[in-house]
Formats: sequence, structure tokens, C-alpha cells
Amino acid sequence: MKKIVVAYSGGLDTSVMVKWLKENYEAEIVAVTGDLGQKSEMVGLEEKAIRTGASKAIILDLKKEFIEQYIWKALKAGALYEGVYPLATAIGRPLLAKALVDVALLENADAIAHGCTGKGNDQVRFEVGINTLAPDMKIIAPLRDWEFKNRDEEIDYAIEQNIPISITKEKPYSIDENLWGVAVECGELEDMNNVVPADAYQITVDPKISPDQSVKIKLEFEKGIPVCLNDEIEDPVEIIEYLNRHAGLHGIGRIDMIENRVVGIKSREIYEAPAATILHQAHNELEKLVLDKDTFRFKQDVNNKVANLIYDGLWFSPFFNSLMSFVDATQEKVTGEIELELYKGNINILSRKSDYSLYQKELATYSAEIEDFFDHKAAEGFVKLYGLPYKTISQIHHLQKEEEAA
Ligand code: ARG
Repeated sequence: MKKIVVAYSGGLDTSVMVKWLKENYEAEIVAVTGDLGQKSEMVGLEEKAIRTGASKAIILDLKKEFIEQYIWKALKAGALYEGVYPLATAIGRPLLAKALVDVALLENADAIAHGCTGKGNDQVRFEVGINTLAPDMKIIAPLRDWEFKNRDEEIDYAIEQNIPISITKEKPYSIDENLWGVAVECGELEDMNNVVPADAYQITVDPKISPDQSVKIKLEFEKGIPVCLNDEIEDPVEIIEYLNRHAGLHGIGRIDMIENRVVGIKSREIYEAPAATILHQAHNELEKLVLDKDTFRFKQDVNNKVANLIYDGLWFSPFFNSLMSFVDATQEKVTGEIELELYKGNINILSRKSDYSLYQKELATYSAEIEDFFDHKAAEGFVKLYGLPYKTISQIHHLQKEEEAA
């Protein structure tokens, strides 16, 4: 093997990987880092990769593509895994897989290496993604193969090999972060009866100590996509960053869940997703206003299916694409404005507006002051026929019982 493209973050695992691959495969290493809006330091990362042994280090700013081609799709599809997790990590992986494939083809590389373990979902998402986009590309997953049994052994190797790493205290958690949210696992969290330690949270404030003053947010959507925040912010990266910062301060978007992994195990995960939580709720609120009942109900099932496909690493699948065609068709009229209030971990909807609203006060009203358009007489006949099958069943059962008793 002559050249290997490595998915590089600059952390311990991927740093050790660069050196280990270079030694074990005697190959040239190209380190690739995708910037999906993670807070971890990008400055000096190229230099660090080179000092670790890479012959080339590439940092790609993928934030805009991440939002437009991945986050907005997940939002339109109301994609929340097992009802709650907004899938930040799960939608980031296919984009990284695509970026790795692009670089590998450009660089004429023989293989792509990633730093995922054998227990996680991310190996599935990377590898299924790479297999789909470049069926002949070889994939190496050193964490599944190498000799190091734990972090300490990796650290020993790093010291011995002069790999620049920042070893402070034992890092208690495994954290993955991007614009759509933070995922925290391992350490004390593995005991599902442990209350989440305060230091596990990275971007949100405990609602108990969050501000006593609520804050108002106004969101404008066009065809299912947020286009303006508080009448001033239009840039999608800024909208999401603003929401993460401000809603994080109010303790919005903390999720503590036991989830079903692709590889068959249950795991305990902590997520922080302030922007995703607000945007999903506002988007859903608008859909309630503009979608007809059948579309709205059917879309709940599709949303759930899409969330499962994303979680299971099947972003680049025909089924995902066809479901997304349905989702896109439903978004034609998801245009309007939602105002909400953030207060101590809660989101309250203050107002909903849309030119496509299907809400008609004259139909819904119980007030004596408003002219009522609803045909009350028609309801009588409707209910009679609507309930007819059940009335009939009951009558027949009744008769049968009487005959049996006679
Ligand atoms: N369980 C989540 C998922 O599968 C998050 C994984 C995050 N990875 C990590 N290294 N913390 O999407």
C-alpha cells in the first residue's frame, strides 16, 4: 500500500493511527479533517498532523455543505432517532465519508482509514458510505485491529514514537461535536443509574441555574428551511451558532437516553442539541399549521423511517432518497413564522403565522361573538355513519350471546 487517507481529528486515537499506519503499512499518509463546526481547535492542526508523520494535511471547511445538504434534510424529515436524538453525529459521518472519498480519489490513494471502534455506529456509517461512493476503495479500521488494549498503551506508544499529544488528566468522556449537537459517552455515564455529572455537559447550562429572564426567538421558514432569525440573521451557520449559544445558556436541548445501536447493543448516551431542538420544534409547529391531516400523519411514519435509515448508516441508499422525495414534496408550503420563548430548559410557542395556514378560527371557535361556519347538524349524520361499523359489530355480538344463552 502506497498511500492512505486518514480521517484525522488530532485527538489521541487518530494521532496514534497516523504513525501506526505509516509504520505498519510503510505508506504515505494524507490526514484529512472535516470542519463541521466542532469547537475543537483547528488552528495548528495541519502542523500537528505533519509532525505526527503525515506527508500532507488537509482541512476542509464543510460547514455550509453540512447545513445545506445534510442538516436541512434531517430537519425537513423531522429526523429524531427513537423520538429524541437529532442525529448530529449520524448525519456528519456520511458527509465525512464523502469528503474522504473525494480526497482519496484525487490523491490516488489505496485506502481510507478511520478511527472508529468495533462497538459503535460510526464504523458502519463511514464504511457503508465509502463502499457506496467508491466500491473499490479499501478501508482500514486500526482500532479494530491494533495491539493496544487501552488508552494507556496508546499513550505509551505516542510517547515512545514522539507523537505530539496533549495528555492532561484521563479524559473521562468520548465526545463528538458538530453544529447540530454534541454526543457524550463513556466514563461514569456507562452506569445508567448515575445522574449525569455536571462536567459531562459541554455547551448547555443546567436549567436550574439558567437565567430567570426568558428570551424570545423569532424564526422564519421557507419551504421547511429556516431563512431568518430575529429579523436579522440570515446566514445558516450563524443561525445555528446563535441558537446553540443562546439556547444553550437557557438549558435547552439536553437529552439523556438509552439507545439501540446498529451493532445490537444498548448504550447510554448524552446529547446536547440546543439549535436542533428549537428548529425541530418550530418546524414541527409550522407543519401542524399547514399540512393536511393525512399528510401530517403519514409524514410521522416517514420521519421515523428516515431517522432509522440515517442512524443505521444508510444515508446514500435508494430508499433514503425516495423517502426524501416525499418529504420534499410535503415542504412546499412549510413557509411562515414561529415565535418562541426559552425559559429554564423549556420552549414555549408564542405565535405561529403562515400564508398557507389551514387553521380557520370560524370553524374552530366556541365563542358566541364569532360567526360559526361549522355545520353542527351535519355532525350528527357524520357520527352516525362513522360509528356504524362498531355499532353493528356490537349488535351482532349481542344477538349471538343471546342465542347461546337460549
Ligand atoms: N451514539 C451516537 C450515534 O451513534 C453518538 C456517537 C458519538 N461518537 C462518539 N465518539 N462520542 O450517533
